[in-house]
Amino acid sequence: MLTVLKLGGSLLSPERAGAAGNWDGLAAAVARRAAAGEALCLVHGGGGALTAFLAARQIPTRFHQGLRVTDAATLEAAVMVLAGAVNKHLTAALNHALPAAGAAARAVGLCGLDGACIAAAVADPALGHVGRVTGGDPRLLRALLAAGFLPVLASLAAGPDGPLNVNADQFAAAAAGALTAARLLFVTDVEGVLDGAGQPLATASLAALTQLTHAGTLHGGMLPKLAACRHALEQGVARVEVIGAAALLAGPAPAGTQITLGSPA
Ligand SMILES: Nc1ncnc2c1ncn2[C@@H]1O[C@H](COP(=O)(O)OP(=O)(O)OP(=O)(O)O)[C@@H](O)[C@H]1O
Ligand SMILES: [Mg+2]
Repeated sequence: MLTVLKLGGSLLSPERAGAAGNWDGLAAAVARRAAAGEALCLVHGGGGALTAFLAARQIPTRFHQGLRVTDAATLEAAVMVLAGAVNKHLTAALNHALPAAGAAARAVGLCGLDGACIAAAVADPALGHVGRVTGGDPRLLRALLAAGFLPVLASLAAGPDGPLNVNADQFAAAAAGALTAARLLFVTDVEGVLDGAGQPLATASLAALTQLTHAGTLHGGMLPKLAACRHALEQGVARVEVIGAAALLAGPAPAGTQITLGSPA
């Protein structure tokens, strides 16, 4: 029973250090789950850190329907920040937290390019070097999991001409499908999917979320997340949830929004 756990990039921004979403706190929460026997594969974003890195170099950031428009300079920065700084700091925090929690697993930081584990094609030339996942080779991830390691994946995929920047939610859904994970958990900076009154929904069907999108209640970064939930559910991932960082820190009790293929019975 594998859980793919996606940590939102907004939680990993440098300015979050020390706040509720700090890396050490998140790593400790993940380590407690691993110590309790949960097999885990992590996927992370790094949106906040990447935007800050680009801003420091006067490179503008532009999003289209929740996806980062990725020119050549942004792709280079994405490789450095996502597969570099964010991935390695998170891996280091986990390798501090795992033994402290009594977990035998050790974290290995990598991305979709390693072992060509997640492959992608250019999604839409207008978005630049943005990938749409087309497949991949799960052997490396399976070998790591079987040997007791905890893969930590930055959301860069193997494209036909080099790395492609893939939305981390869509990357996580692809990883969950490829690894036939039982559970996919999106940990983000809101408590769950919020309704028109700003309240988190306990459960929501894909159809209900599409309605919220048409009503303008669901937008921005939640759009690729919705597409990722759909992808994962259609690939047979049984439980797909969107939760806040506070819920991850609090423990395994149900929280946030469970997304279902159809209306809950
Ligand atoms: N109906 C909604 N419910 C909850 N959040 C929503 C909704 N509509 C839009 N959002 C936005 O979606 C954001 C979460 O997506 P976002 O892509 O910013 O974070 P993430 O996926 O956790 O991080 P990253 O993309 O860096 O990995 C929320 O912070 C909120 O601003
Ligand atoms: Mg996102």
